Amino acid sequence: MSHTPSTSTETTVIEKVIAFVDERVGLKLLVAKMLNEPVPGGSRWAYVFGSVLLFIFIMQAITGVLLMFYYVPTADHAYASTQYILHDVDYGWFLLSYHFWGSTAMVVCVFAHISQVFLWGAYKKPRELIWLVGLALFGIVMGFGFTGYLLPWDQRAYWATTVGVEIMDKTPLIGDFIARFLKGGATPGQMTLSRFFVIHVMVLPAALMGLAGLHLFLFRSAGPAGPFRGTPEELKAKTDYFFPRQIWKDIVGMATVFACICALAFWEPVVLLEEATPDPGDYHPEPEWYFLFLFQLLRLKMFSGELGQFVGAMALPGAFMALLAVLPFIDKDPERNIFKRPVALIGWVVVMAAILIFTISAIINREFLD
Ligand code: HEM
Repeated sequence: MSHTPSTSTETTVIEKVIAFVDERVGLKLLVAKMLNEPVPGGSRWAYVFGSVLLFIFIMQAITGVLLMFYYVPTADHAYASTQYILHDVDYGWFLLSYHFWGSTAMVVCVFAHISQVFLWGAYKKPRELIWLVGLALFGIVMGFGFTGYLLPWDQRAYWATTVGVEIMDKTPLIGDFIARFLKGGATPGQMTLSRFFVIHVMVLPAALMGLAGLHLFLFRSAGPAGPFRGTPEELKAKTDYFFPRQIWKDIVGMATVFACICALAFWEPVVLLEEATPDPGDYHPEPEWYFLFLFQLLRLKMFSGELGQFVGAMALPGAFMALLAVLPFIDKDPERNIFKRPVALIGWVVVMAAILIFTISAIINREFLD
């Protein structure tokens, strides 16, 4: 006689396991605390980007580990192993293309998240530290893009890195050290690939995990900022809890982003160029799309010459990041309503428009050069 355990026995076993863990780590209290976080003013679609970013990162880590099963980080095998992933490994083309489009999604969502917290005035007291840690996370996201770009070791990878490192070289005092450290030689080679690989798969993921944990801890300590309009009484009356409404919105956000990345991976899979060589031939080097605006900025006449290139490539972006870092400390006005903060609103529109215009003109320029 076959014996199938009854559902009630299974439930009891599961309950026993939960009770066992709960007794030791206070699991139920932890889950209750996480789910019962009050969201003042109610759940909003605008709040989904932070959770979506965490989801994208987890998926990047999973697809990245799977890619590492096949990828060989050596100058003479990186290109061939990437070709192998694309053409021989079952669904390898999808895996690599998902990882590629996932990085794009992360950059888009990080811009959306910064815009949301900026427009909502969520960087103001008492959330200054959440904002500062967020800026470090932004640097890490861009660092992932820059270091990952080299790994396929095709002409695009090689030349984008060459241009990127040359730009860093222009930083006074430390530029030469950074460039020499990253390149590890006169031209990009095995040392460069090894260093970019280690930074991409070990240093940045560890830094992101640590800082994202700190970001969430600080967020939980300060509590969500909530909407920028409404009296405290109105917000209190509309308060939701993280579960169920906000969590469902977050899940819908994650599912939408997942579907978009899958669709892009399917319709626009990664295609490699020729294997990397120190001779660009008729290839015009250019960085990944999210650095294109900077690349285009450097083409302006006012940024020509050694000094101009330094100002455009390092001084201006550096000053802009420094301004963002001190923002919560110089903007002490507790007003969070963006329609009553004209300087912030105009500033945001100008920066976004500039990034968009420079990116589009870089793309048009590329079509022209091609
Ligand atoms: C990998 C990058 C990041 C991850 C995974 C992340 C994750 C999160 C999460 C899960 C939250 C809580 C809920 C919400 O989405 O509002 C949050 C809140 C917040 N984040 Fe981030 N974040 C990242 C980058 C950034 C950046 C670049 C900034 C700004 C420079 C930033 C500033 C903030 C602020 C100020 C809050 C509080 C929002 C509020 O109270 O309404 N974060 N972040």
